[in-house]
Amino acid sequence: MNILVTGGAGFIGSHTCISLLESGYSVIVADNFCNSESKILEKVMEITGKRVITYEIDVTNEEQVNSIFKNHQLEAVIHFAGYKAVGESVNKPLDYYYNNILSTLVIARACQMYSVNKIVFSSSATVYGDQNSPFVEDMNLLPTTNPYGETKAMSERILMDMCVSDSRFSVALLRYFNPVGAHSSGLIGEEPRGIPNNLMPYITKVAKGELENLNIFGDNYSTVDGTGVRDYIHVMDLAKGHVAALQNKKNGAHVYNLGTGYGTSVLEMVKAFEEVNNINIPYKIVDKRSGDIGVCYADVTKASRELNWEAQQNIRDMCRDAWRYEKYRSSVKV
Ligand code: WQD
Repeated sequence: MNILVTGGAGFIGSHTCISLLESGYSVIVADNFCNSESKILEKVMEITGKRVITYEIDVTNEEQVNSIFKNHQLEAVIHFAGYKAVGESVNKPLDYYYNNILSTLVIARACQMYSVNKIVFSSSATVYGDQNSPFVEDMNLLPTTNPYGETKAMSERILMDMCVSDSRFSVALLRYFNPVGAHSSGLIGEEPRGIPNNLMPYITKVAKGELENLNIFGDNYSTVDGTGVRDYIHVMDLAKGHVAALQNKKNGAHVYNLGTGYGTSVLEMVKAFEEVNNINIPYKIVDKRSGDIGVCYADVTKASRELNWEAQQNIRDMCRDAWRYEKYRSSVKV
């Protein structure tokens, strides 16, 4: 069974390709490599011993996308392709709306035209906006603080409306919390281009000596130690959640939180990284980052009940695997 994975060379996409291949699916990737490299897919093939068909295309290009649907009998589409930097989206809103919304429209229209009736969409916990955790799927969504979050909320609505108009479709809208870690082989992982956005790439930069210290954005939130709390999920757990969503044939559009249901503070993450990898991570407390919320974690009962999926790995596993990849990537001698 052929699965089209848009953005399949990205951090979450590449790990999901591994889970798909290991579950017996055939994988076709469409990626323009704007935030990834084709060599990642070679690693996916090395890890699994299976072939991946790759098309280097822009998923906003309807003609190029349709040619894939024409040439392959697709079972489903997992749509990752999109820009995902929150801060960048505030500075480049039109790029984000154009790229993220148009790519969703192009994929949805192709699925309708070629009767590919299963779509798994890469959404984000950002769509909940600034409200109290735990976040539950049927909560009202508040406006997010950034165009990136808005493109995810809008894409969800586009796919929901498509399902209302066309009962053939089964759509899973997966709201990720904070993906961290890397495949246990150490051959692929999170490789942000330029200045990282997320916590773990900063921690590993400090661990490699590329940065003197970690800046911790604020320590006076109402949390266990004042630093921000998030629901970090191992990227391989997230990948398996996509396979579980793919196998759920429930008609209509359904939202699922993919998280662990637990919150971890920045200082707790730093401590876990230091203990697991026996590396000191110096840090400084600096001002809060604009747009940050204090606490964000998931209610994960729906995915457990309907997808028979739960995250298995913990914070220490994430820290161990993230660092293993960095050592491989920068060929640091152990
Ligand atoms: C985590 C915690 C920071 C960096 C973002 C996107 C979200 C999703 C996941 C796409 C926060 C603190 C961070 C640093 C720090 N991406 N931090 N120093 O902001 O929860 O979510 O990534 O879907 O849409 O918004 O993740 O890793 O940036 O921050 O103190 O150098 O670490 O304040 O509490 P975030 P993050």
